[in-house]
Amino acid sequence: LSGRFEIICGSMFSGKTEELIRRVRRAIIAKQAVQVFKPQIDDRYGIEVVKSHDGQNVEAIPVATPEAIIDHIEPETTVVAIDEIQFFSEGIVDVVQQLASSGLRVVAAGLDLDFRGEPFGPMPELLCVAEEVMKLHAICVVCGDLASRTQRLVNNEPAHYEDPIIMVGAQESYEARCRKCHSVPRLQP
Ligand code: TMP
Ligand code: MG
Repeated sequence: LSGRFEIICGSMFSGKTEELIRRVRRAIIAKQAVQVFKPQIDDRYGIEVVKSHDGQNVEAIPVATPEAIIDHIEPETTVVAIDEIQFFSEGIVDVVQQLASSGLRVVAAGLDLDFRGEPFGPMPELLCVAEEVMKLHAICVVCGDLASRTQRLVNNEPAHYEDPIIMVGAQESYEARCRKCHSVPRLQP
């Protein structure tokens, strides 16, 4: 059996983790051996579960580096799921390629764009090497159109372009918005 790499992307609140969990559940029902990983950085819901915004969850192994995923793979595993894949360093591309080339099905979910509306970390390369890409959309909280961006808010104001890229959070700091309603003011004009 040939391996393959499937990636699910989109803004926050678009249902990426829900879709990942759906695929994991189907594999488990088919009695396939599944292992789920996530980057250690995401500690929103404790360290041992992948939880979607709608409250669903599955157990996951938190790893500090992409290479640590390889070290954790058990011999019987046929499906590898990775959530929040945008947080890994570029090394994740080789790791995913290696796993898929060795015959495993790899399914990942990640943010395609950061709060600035720019490609997030290793996502461009991951989207290119994947056999299958699914792009999900949320609903813009301002106008109700389809949302493709994630608005970061600090004290209810749009975050500046110069802010750090990584800031773990959920509804208290982020909103889904469309291209028109998404705003990223610059400190330096
Ligand atoms: P989610 O895609 O499962 O909703 O989670 C995205 C996580 O990424 C969440 O913890 C917030 C974080 N994040 C950043 O660190 N930087 C960003 O620019 C954005 C949009 C989200
Ligand atoms: Mg998620």
